[in-house]
Amino acid sequence: MTKKRILTGDRPSGPLHLGHYVGSLKNRVKLQYEYDTFVIIADVQALTIHFEHPGILKENVRQVCLDYLGVGLDPKACTIFIQSAVPEIAELTVIYSLLVSANSLRHNPTIKTEAQEYGLGESLSYGFLGYPVSQAADITFCKAHLVPVGADQAPVVEVTRKIVRRFNELYGETLVVPEIMIGDVGRLVGTDGSAKMSKTLKNCIYLSDPPEVVAKQLSTAMTDPARIHVTDPGHPEVCNVFSYQKAFNPDFIPELEESCRAGRIGCVACKKTLIQAVNELLEPVRERRRYYEAHPDLISDILTAGIKRAREVGAETMSDVRRAMKIDYF
Ligand code: TRP
Repeated sequence: MTKKRILTGDRPSGPLHLGHYVGSLKNRVKLQYEYDTFVIIADVQALTIHFEHPGILKENVRQVCLDYLGVGLDPKACTIFIQSAVPEIAELTVIYSLLVSANSLRHNPTIKTEAQEYGLGESLSYGFLGYPVSQAADITFCKAHLVPVGADQAPVVEVTRKIVRRFNELYGETLVVPEIMIGDVGRLVGTDGSAKMSKTLKNCIYLSDPPEVVAKQLSTAMTDPARIHVTDPGHPEVCNVFSYQKAFNPDFIPELEESCRAGRIGCVACKKTLIQAVNELLEPVRERRRYYEAHPDLISDILTAGIKRAREVGAETMSDVRRAMKIDYF
């Protein structure tokens, strides 16, 4: 039996961080042999924000690819490719743009939040507003069954599901309605306690950070603000560091929760165990990154092969779509 497909990916706007890891990368690595896995480096989507500085993309694409290989995506099992190199995705985007109302995009919670975060206001472009449509093309060009993403992306993937249903209704069963899979940690807060890890807030831990940077970021991270003395009872439910412990040190949680509430473990000691756990997780990532950094030709080969396969699969889907829409003229 042929395997079901996964499609997921990231915008190459910078190196990936722990939030990306718990949201989606971890699930990809886990499922890569069970599913035929496609991973998109969505450079065109990154341009919806960075179109004035396209020069940042080349290095960021390389960094994201290093992050993928670093966390253990196996290029023998996964098709890793670059969005702009697969023109079928652009073709599908144009067709799908007919099947979604401009208003539903304006009201999409993710679009609204991100437009605000990036301060887009009146300058919000047609392309940014429409990125869920191009993401629908990313997901369906290979007829993916499953899309592992961070919680913030759920409303965007919902647009794909709507477009696919509409397409199939109008033109006959052609495309696959994908399922969404959210990482078990949901969203990872920033080290400063703000809602999200973000490059501009400098509250991230990158997968490529060396051990001392991880130690520094975590030892200065916000904890329960009501806790001043080591012996004060802690409130893990409001503590940033506790939410990290849940994500990266789950076995320690029952004991930690009890000692924190009882004021038996201080924040410094707690952070020390977290730093160790995160650095243990990242050590093999750093090692694999170092290997690929020393072999840049391998990265080009992996991406070239990925693009070739993505185009083959995309051509098949385009031909199904043309037939279904009766625009297969000759
Ligand atoms: N929008 C996603 C993000 O910001 C990145 C992305 C682009 C994506 N295309 C995709 C995710 C397709 C899943 C499937 O993280």
